[in-house]
Amino acid sequence: MTQTTGGSAPHLRRRGAGDAAKRNRPPNSRNQAEPLSSGTVVPEMPQSGPENPPTERTLVVLKPDAVQRGIAAEILARFERRGLRIAALRLLKVERAFAERHYEIHKGKFFHEDLVRTISASPVVAAVLEGPNAIAVVRAMVGATRPHEAAPGTIRGDYALVGLRNLVHASDAPETASSEIALWFPDGVIEYRGDLERWVSDEGALS
Ligand code: CDP
Ligand code: MG
Repeated sequence: MTQTTGGSAPHLRRRGAGDAAKRNRPPNSRNQAEPLSSGTVVPEMPQSGPENPPTERTLVVLKPDAVQRGIAAEILARFERRGLRIAALRLLKVERAFAERHYEIHKGKFFHEDLVRTISASPVVAAVLEGPNAIAVVRAMVGATRPHEAAPGTIRGDYALVGLRNLVHASDAPETASSEIALWFPDGVIEYRGDLERWVSDEGALS
């Protein structure tokens, strides 16, 4: 089996992230923009149509409330049933320093300390999910950050009531997916492919 890491940014030009961005592409990614040479992310015209969506990887963390409530596998099963593939999976107890790195983007916000303490209070299940438009699909399935605003049918809308107990973390963009996967799965993910995938993706849909 081959191991590799990362998400993908097929609809963005990413300056300065060149080789890393190439290495982080999942298998079967198509229409990848060639990276440019300095640090900015520049949107470009999407090259993928509905008939050719980008294969992406995204990080999902089933937070302590999901594990403690015994619904981690049930939530994971929703993603699998949607057609996303588990590319990496682990149960771990997050240390404070690790939680601070994961939530660095929220440093300085009023909820940062509560967030760090909450996610490091008890074990979590972390997974990399892969599939067409995986980042957006997972975010839509997870629902709004504040569960009272989350639509029924979403995970938070079906299972959660308050923000610090909203069960799931999910990457929100190709860049965060890539960095979060590298943080949570430093040894990489597993590349594999099953025949079932052509029955849930456009690839091979006509044959
Ligand atoms: O998780 P999501 O990406 O939807 O939200 P976020 O804006 O990245 O915030 C990270 C986490 O902080 C949320 O999932 C909530 O658990 C928590 N949060 C909160 O408790 N209160 C807020 N006003 C905002 C976020
Ligand atoms: Mg977030």
